[in-house]
Amino acid sequence: MKQLATLRTNAVHKKRSISGFWIIISLLFGFSSPLMSWAALPGEEDWEAPLGLDGDFIVIPKDNPLTKEKVELGKLLFFDKRLSKNNTIACGNCHLPSVAFTDGQPVSTGIHRLQGRRSAPTSINRLFSTAQFWDGRAATLEAQSTGPFVSPVEHGFTNHDELVAKLNTINGYQALFQQVFHGPITKDRVGHAIASFQRTLLSGNSPYDRFDYEGEEGAISPAAQRGLKLFLKKARCTRCHSGFNFTDEKFHNLGIDWDTDHIDLGRFTVTKNPEDIGAFKTPTLREISGTAPYMHDGRFATLRQVVEFYNKGGIKNPHQDNTIIPLELTGPEKEDLVEFLQTLRGEGWQMEPPTKFPN
Ligand code: HEC
Ligand code: HEC
Repeated sequence: MKQLATLRTNAVHKKRSISGFWIIISLLFGFSSPLMSWAALPGEEDWEAPLGLDGDFIVIPKDNPLTKEKVELGKLLFFDKRLSKNNTIACGNCHLPSVAFTDGQPVSTGIHRLQGRRSAPTSINRLFSTAQFWDGRAATLEAQSTGPFVSPVEHGFTNHDELVAKLNTINGYQALFQQVFHGPITKDRVGHAIASFQRTLLSGNSPYDRFDYEGEEGAISPAAQRGLKLFLKKARCTRCHSGFNFTDEKFHNLGIDWDTDHIDLGRFTVTKNPEDIGAFKTPTLREISGTAPYMHDGRFATLRQVVEFYNKGGIKNPHQDNTIIPLELTGPEKEDLVEFLQTLRGEGWQMEPPTKFPN
């Protein structure tokens, strides 16, 4: 097997055990063999991570085990616009399945067409992270999953009691919460259900994965193969976008904002540590060619612009990460790098939003 890249953090990747043969046999005879592991949920005994993802690194809190019913409930809550003050905003407004769970806008538009100051990141592969949001202010996906409801520029509730009271007017939800949690609707249970749904949104088995992990020579073009080498070495990308999910889960100041008069202090607002001034979480690069525009302020419309930005050494400021330096990439090298980034589109998250909601 050809092993060009060294992106994996550690732990040997487990090969998927489901072969096409077994899929056909199972379909023919209609039995649900334990080999049909795609039906299993992350963390379950018979679950296998999609190719390229390392199942040893998933984070599922003990007090919120994944169950199919909870994931289904979370999916309804994620896409139901009634979970906003005026029935116009769902999580799914800004995290659309059609654009890899982002919204395709530089910054998001929420209730009353109000705009926030940051770009919507993808909700894909969140189960590999603890700290959520660009500044990592939510320590768990559970905490993240209730935050937007009380944002005045997102779902617009004054407080979570208002959300819970509104959900309680929908009998169908009362019944579903009883079924899933054996109790009434609470803010925490809403968060648990939505977090569970988000944990099932995975991206793996991309052309890059097939090339690197399966040795499938033709999976990515020669240009993308050159781009991968650049990504690992000359362009220094893996100093931060490391490991199977292309992130060190740390915070860095590249200089985004420092050419404007409204500097977002990023991680510093959470830690008050001067080293964190203007630092933002390294985002995953999986699905990146489908989630433009880029950076926390959504300033770049194309991956080529992102590469140009890194090539120049970001935007200088007193707090810039010292690993960001000019790269001296040639024109063709920049193209190769972009070509590589385009091979990171995988599967495991594609879906249609529900068409029916509880009454
Ligand atoms: C009005 C648009 C909007 C709505 C509605 C919205 N989000 Fe977001 N979402 C954003 C933006 C913008 C960010 C980045 C905010 C930040 O980091 O400060 C974000 C961040 C996130 C993240 C963090 C991803 C990461 O990599 O750290 C997750 C997960 C997420 N949202 C899920 C949800 C869920 C669940 C809901 C519904 C409860 C929701 N969003 C509602 C726009 C929205
Ligand atoms: C010093 C750490 C670091 C290095 C080195 C680095 N990145 Fe990043 N990358 C980040 C951080 C942090 C962000 C988010 C910055 C922000 O929005 O303020 C980011 C954002 C991005 C984005 C936009 C992601 C999105 O969802 O909007 C892309 C694309 C990207 N990086 C690609 C690259 C490539 C290609 C390289 C190599 C040329 C590279 N990065 C090198 C840390 C780094």
